[in-house]
Amino acid sequence: MYQFSTAGVLACAGLYVVLYILLQITQDRKEPPPVATSIPFLDPLVGIFTEKVQYLIQLRDKYRLPITTIRLPFTRIYVVNQPALINTIQRQGNAFAFQPVALEFGFLFSGITKKSQAILRNAFSGMGNGFTAGVHKYLHTGSNLDMVSGAATDALSASVPGLAGQMNVGLLHTIQHDLALALTDAMYGPQNPFRDPEVEASWHDFVPGIKHLLYSPFPNITAYRSLQARLRVIAALQQYFRKGGHFQAFPMVREMFDGYMSHGLELEEAAKLDMATLLAMLSSGGIAAFWLMFRVLSNNVVLGNCRQEILANLASNDTLTPDGRRVTVIDLSQLKSKCPTLMAMLNETLRYHSTVISAKNIREDFLLDGQYLLKKDAMLMIPGPVVHYDAAIWGLDADLFNHRRFLFPASARKRLVNTSNFRPFGAGVTMCPGRHFSTNAMVSLAAMMLLQFDVKPKDGAWKIPSTNNADLWNAMPKPDWDVEVDILPRKDAEAVEWKFVWGAQNSMG
Ligand code: HEM
Ligand SMILES: *[C@@H]1O[C@H](CO)[C@@H](O)[C@H](O)[C@H]1NC(C)=O
Ligand SMILES: *[C@@H]1O[C@H](CO)[C@@H](O)[C@H](O)[C@H]1NC(C)=O
Ligand SMILES: *[C@@H]1O[C@H](CO)[C@@H](O)[C@H](O)[C@H]1NC(C)=O
Ligand SMILES: *[C@@H]1O[C@H](CO)[C@@H](O)[C@H](O)[C@H]1NC(C)=O
Repeated sequence: MYQFSTAGVLACAGLYVVLYILLQITQDRKEPPPVATSIPFLDPLVGIFTEKVQYLIQLRDKYRLPITTIRLPFTRIYVVNQPALINTIQRQGNAFAFQPVALEFGFLFSGITKKSQAILRNAFSGMGNGFTAGVHKYLHTGSNLDMVSGAATDALSASVPGLAGQMNVGLLHTIQHDLALALTDAMYGPQNPFRDPEVEASWHDFVPGIKHLLYSPFPNITAYRSLQARLRVIAALQQYFRKGGHFQAFPMVREMFDGYMSHGLELEEAAKLDMATLLAMLSSGGIAAFWLMFRVLSNNVVLGNCRQEILANLASNDTLTPDGRRVTVIDLSQLKSKCPTLMAMLNETLRYHSTVISAKNIREDFLLDGQYLLKKDAMLMIPGPVVHYDAAIWGLDADLFNHRRFLFPASARKRLVNTSNFRPFGAGVTMCPGRHFSTNAMVSLAAMMLLQFDVKPKDGAWKIPSTNNADLWNAMPKPDWDVEVDILPRKDAEAVEWKFVWGAQNSMG
């Protein structure tokens, strides 16, 4: 026994020495300094998987380095911590050395065949995010954005009133469901596959499998159930395109689909690619809207101010209903410009809760800022929280939630929302193209709920959930448990018939 454990210790010590030497000789002196580890390669692996983005924040606080190297088995990650350096990287734009990860992730999540992958890689050669160009084109600003935001508002107007009187429901579950239906209705039109509750349920069964697709050597064993669920969503998408649902959709859906087909993909394969857009569309919006509502509802001053601003600045009394009730029309397209409290809450919610990590693959050796060697095939990571919690940018209360933070005068705000300081949607050429659409839908949902309901926590007090089990890949952290609430119609609002519209559609019957 004694003999055995001595041998064990010696073997471990030997392994340690080998790993240590391996680490030293494979680390170039010009690379960003490596973080010290007690067990080379394994320490950071455990750290990232157990603490997730918190691990990166801890490293920043411990070493205070502008950029560091984390050595993992078979790969290295450079983690950027300093806003000035983040700016330098952003200025490289789409430089060949920095390849967006969207294309590879899109392939992975959608499960298209090797053959289709080769076709698309060839079609999008040299432009890593050509794959997402359709989303950038259609959701940027202007009339298309207004059209799709209006459609989402209509879907919310139809579903949100139905929440009245629901008791003991999960706030996250409720928000996620209504928002997902509104976003997918607005995108896919009358034949929206997510109208089928089985498809929505399958989607939720698929999502936990994503981390297996990213990190597991055998995803179809370790995430069997999730990948079966994905097949059901894919089948629904294939059916949708087969039946021509996309002819009645937001033009983006049809154009992207036609694009994939024109490169030579089969219909079955082209349909699968919508899994990638759906993931971008559904993964963070519902969670962000949950945190926004949690923050607004749990602060009576903020809640009162939000309601007051919406009523005072967006409402107009048009008509009376036949039974004499007043119809109050709320133009939600004006939330952004006329409801500073709600918009400031959204930004502070994103700043405080975001767990975003922007990632890029290094395609060739690159000297960053004239001093740091970034090696080919490594990954570059910019964790949002390290800048979101930086006291040099946000002041000494950086690690507190401050509902007044974004109520600064516009001049001061401009500096703060610069993407080197505020990056819940990423930055640069790959910055989230869905940010305006999702912002519009999130604040519309919030406004509708705030005016129509009193939402009360079942436990009497708002207890904030932890996020220890949240997925590393998600830009917003899913709470570890749902917050149970009662949704009660508001007494003083019952005499009113609400009509929620998006801008010019005001005149609609
Ligand atoms: C609160 C909601 C959302 C958050 C926090 C969010 C966040 C992000 C982030 C952090 C990125 C990566 C940016 C980068 O690498 O620089 C991203 C990319 C993307 N997002 Fe969003 N997103 C949201 C909603 C949406 C919606 C509703 C859509 C579509 C309708 C969407 C579509 C996309 C697409 C297509 C990309 C890939 C862009 C590219 O690489 O070219 N997102 N999003
Ligand atoms: C798992 O996936 C691989 C490739 O995607 C495939 O070749 C293999 O047959 C699958 N195994 C099972 C058990 O489904
Ligand atoms: C709408 O009518 C009600 C009651 O007549 C009034 O209290 C409210 O201020 C009016 N709102 C607007 C925007 O005119
Ligand atoms: C919130 O952040 C966005 C950038 O994501 C910015 O354009 C907007 O002005 C900010 N609004 C407020 C109220 O801070
Ligand atoms: C953000 O700030 C950096 C330096 O602080 C500056 O170089 C950059 O132009 C700013 N970006 C925008 C969009 O204002």
